[in-house]
Amino acid sequence: CRAHKIVVLPGDGIGPEIADVALRVLTSAGRAEGEEFAFEEGLIGGAALDGAGVPCPEATLEACRRSDAVLLPAVGGYKWDNVDPVLRPERGLLTLRAGLEVFANLRPAVVLPQLAGASSLKSEIVTGVDIMIVRELVGGIYFGEPRGFRTNENGEKVGYNTMIYSEKEVERIARVGFDMARKRNKRLCSVGKSNVLEVSMLWMEVVSRIGEEYADVELTHMYIDNAAMQLLRNPKSFDTILTGNIFGDILSDEAAMITGSLGVLPSASISNTGPGIFEPVHGSAPDIAGQDLANPIAMVLSAAMMCRYGLNIPKVAERMENAIALVLDQGYRTGDIMSDGMTQVGCKQLGDLIQEQVEAPVGVG
Ligand code: NAD
Ligand code: IPM
Ligand code: MN
Repeated sequence: CRAHKIVVLPGDGIGPEIADVALRVLTSAGRAEGEEFAFEEGLIGGAALDGAGVPCPEATLEACRRSDAVLLPAVGGYKWDNVDPVLRPERGLLTLRAGLEVFANLRPAVVLPQLAGASSLKSEIVTGVDIMIVRELVGGIYFGEPRGFRTNENGEKVGYNTMIYSEKEVERIARVGFDMARKRNKRLCSVGKSNVLEVSMLWMEVVSRIGEEYADVELTHMYIDNAAMQLLRNPKSFDTILTGNIFGDILSDEAAMITGSLGVLPSASISNTGPGIFEPVHGSAPDIAGQDLANPIAMVLSAAMMCRYGLNIPKVAERMENAIALVLDQGYRTGDIMSDGMTQVGCKQLGDLIQEQVEAPVGVG
């Protein structure tokens, strides 16, 4: 069988450090299961701006289109905080997402039993939490036109964006949400601001209509402000959450603190046709970059999501997930999830430990 063609875009900040771990673990897990990967590296974000003059070069887009899947750790950093908005590293990521039309972003927030104590919430509140956030990723206020800066009638500078969704855009993400809920506990909570925003009124109307095709899934609607609160009050009340681009961005970082750290949350950005982008929920963490302090787990779990959702090799995904659980069982932690009695290690060493476990025969640990 041929090698899976993976484009790796290390990006900025901690990106290269966690990419290195993910590729090693992936290669070993693949070898153990008889799967091979061919990696091709490309430029994105600040690294692309510095190296090619734009944050998402055409060559990167082309390579991604030809690939089976894309691994993307993170982009952004202080160095580029004041460049022209269209050249920002983050805009490069958005261009890539739009270019590959990865409209569905799956962000699981699962509390690993070993990390229940690492959450800032009481462990009885978070133990057993298993939420899937389905976030629309290539529309909404991130992409709506018109956008920009202008001068108003008082001569003041104003900045503006447009939050807009069409029926078709809501329909396709709603189906992903319902299909996901159907495979899980059959409860879908659609989140918006339909008491104020027309865009959310349309969202709610379309989601309800699609819901008629999914009689076995229980659909509820919640306002975003209440959802943000309920997520902390009783996270176990949620199964699958369906929401738009910006609300999903915010709720997924919030969900990270339920699970203990942003450093353990993976995501899959998928389309209906082409390759997906597999990216952690966290950013480039410039405050800890280059110091071997980053937690590589979110990146390794994103590579596992790639195996499951992008390449259809779930055995490789399981191997990686099991290896992480074993290393956590043994008490190894990076600084962000460190607690009493555990052994603190760096990014590279945690990667070595996971790689060792991934190579072990199944059932032996
Ligand atoms: P961030 O997620 O990079 O960091 C937030 C905090 O979490 C920091 O204290 C950081 O050290 C910590 N953290 C994040 N990932 C970690 C990991 N793997 N291990 C240990 N600690 C981790 O968010 P930010 O600081 O708001 O943004 C930094 C830059 O990243 C900005 O340029 C932002 O635009 C960008 N960003 C990129 C992405 C992406 O590429 N998908 C996502 C979010 C933010
Ligand atoms: C994320 C990030 C991105 C987003 C930024 C960097 C464009 O915060 O993946 O969550 O807002 O989608
Ligand atoms: Mn985010």
